[in-house]
Amino acid sequence: MTKITTKFRRFTDLSVSERMLFTIFLITIGLGYLFALAHTYYSHANRDGEPGLSVEDIKIAYYGKSEITRLGAGLNAGMADNLEFPGQKDIIFKWIEDGADETAFNDKIAPILNENCIACHSVESGMGIPPMTSYEKIQELTKMDTGVSIKSLVRVSHIHMFGIAFILFFVGRIFVLSEIPVTLKRVMVVVPFLAILLDILSWYLTKFIPGFAYVVVLAGGVMGISLAAQILVSIYQMWFYAPHKRVEM
Ligand code: HEC
Repeated sequence: MTKITTKFRRFTDLSVSERMLFTIFLITIGLGYLFALAHTYYSHANRDGEPGLSVEDIKIAYYGKSEITRLGAGLNAGMADNLEFPGQKDIIFKWIEDGADETAFNDKIAPILNENCIACHSVESGMGIPPMTSYEKIQELTKMDTGVSIKSLVRVSHIHMFGIAFILFFVGRIFVLSEIPVTLKRVMVVVPFLAILLDILSWYLTKFIPGFAYVVVLAGGVMGISLAAQILVSIYQMWFYAPHKRVEM
C-alpha cells in the first residue's frame, strides 16, 4: 500500500517563466495601488481647508459639512463686509441652520439682501455672480453639503468590490505558495478581504455617523498593509529564498 501524501505547490515548484509572470503582475498591482492612494489624496485632500489628507477630509467627503453652504462660505470669505450691521450675518447664518425656509426668507432675509447685496448679486448688474433676488435663486446657495450621495456610494461600492476582489484573489493565490507558518498564512489571506468589506461598510456608516471616518481610514490602511505584505513576501520568496530546495531523485 502506498502512503498518500498531499503535496501543495510552493514557490520552489514554479518555473522561471511562472515566477516572472507572477512578479511582473505583483509589481503592476503594487504600483496600481500607489496610484489609487494618490487618487484618494487628490480627491479628498483639502476638503477641510487644511493642506494634506486627514480624517476630517474623509468625514466631509462622506458625511458632509452642514455648516458650510455657498452663502455661508461667501459671507465668511469677506462678503459680510457689505452688510450694514454685523449682526445681520448671524441672522443669515441662523436662517441657514434652521433650514432656510421661504417664510423666514421673505420676513427677515430678503430685506437684508435687497439692501446690501443685490446691487451686485442680480442679473441686472451684469457681473455674472449668483443672483440673490428671489427665494428660488438663493436656494442654490443654501444647499447643505451632505457629502457623497448614496447613489454614487453604491456605484463606487460595486466597482470596488468586483475590482478589489479580483486583485486580492490573484495576489492571494500567488501568496499561498509562500512558506510561512500556516496559521499566519490563513489569517493573511483573509484579512484584506475583511478589511475592504469593513472599509466599504464604513463609507455608509460615515454618511450617518461621522466618527466612522476613522474606521474608513483604519480599514483602508489594514488592507493596504496586508496587500503590500503579500506582494513583498511573494516576490522575496520567489527569487531570494529557498528553505529546502527539493532534491531531485
Ligand atoms: C460690490 C459688489 C458686491 C456686493 C455688494 C456683494 N457682493 Fe457678493 N460677490 C461679489 C463678487 C464680485 C463675487 C465673486 C467674486 C468673489 O467671490 O469675491 C461675489 C461672491 C459672493 C458669494 C460667492 C458666490 C459663489 O459663487 O459661491 C457669495 C455667497 C456672496 N458674494 C454673498 C454676498 C452677500 C450675502 C452680500 C450682501 C451682504 C454680497 N455678496 C454683496 C460682489 C458683491
